[in-house]
Amino acid sequence: MKLKLEISHIMRSPHGNLVLEDCSYSFDRGGAYLLMGPNGSGKSTLLRICALLEKQDRGEVTYYAGEQRLQHDISLKRRMTLVLPQVGIFNATVFDNVSYGLKIRGAGRQEIERKTLELLEFAGLAAKKNQRALSLSSGEKQRLGIARALVVAPEMLFLDEPTASIDEANTRLIEEMILGKKKSGMTMIITTHDRLQAERLADQMLLIRDKKLVEG
Ligand SMILES: Nc1ncnc2c1ncn2[C@@H]1O[C@H](COP(=O)(O)OP(=O)(O)OP(=O)(O)O)[C@@H](O)[C@H]1O
Ligand SMILES: [Mg+2]
Repeated sequence: MKLKLEISHIMRSPHGNLVLEDCSYSFDRGGAYLLMGPNGSGKSTLLRICALLEKQDRGEVTYYAGEQRLQHDISLKRRMTLVLPQVGIFNATVFDNVSYGLKIRGAGRQEIERKTLELLEFAGLAAKKNQRALSLSSGEKQRLGIARALVVAPEMLFLDEPTASIDEANTRLIEEMILGKKKSGMTMIITTHDRLQAERLADQMLLIRDKKLVEG
């Protein structure tokens, strides 16, 4: 059953600093939602709230499978991933970094091998599978981060500035990964400062304007 996300009247005010005032939206169609807004407008905050990693001060985050509201438990959290630039990569090979999520979910050896290689191929990292992940370039690390997230086939994928400080060639590769995944019916919420990129990728553009979420 397809996962749907609805946020209503989200307010967030960390340490008395009002960041999000009244954000409501239904992410109910799948595909790529591109979220834009100036520095400090609350994009990352909103992504963390949607990914259930940070709690709003007011309002509701509701996930649905069909009409059924889902508990915010570990099984729901396993259906989504937030990817931050260069975060979460650990000191092991590229292969082990990508396969990690499958291992902790108890996948068998053959499944781990097959899915990891498929994702490494998809991310253009197959030739580097035995290299230490920490020795990758920043563009390669960013592709690795996305491959790590995708290997467990999340239904919701949150990408926070996936191409910030990444060169043009790697930006293209990352955009191709995103476009490739759009077809699979995954829902993606992606932040960017690059309007042209947003136009290339988006099924729906969103903006944070005056602490509120609006269609762009
Ligand atoms: N714990 C906190 N205490 C006070 N203010 C906070 C806290 N966490 C975040 N903020 C503030 O919330 C605002 C929104 O930050 P956020 O990182 O969500 O913005 P952003 O749109 O992602 O910006 P950028 O484009 O620079 O990534 C910022 O002004 C930030 O300083
Ligand atoms: Mg941010």
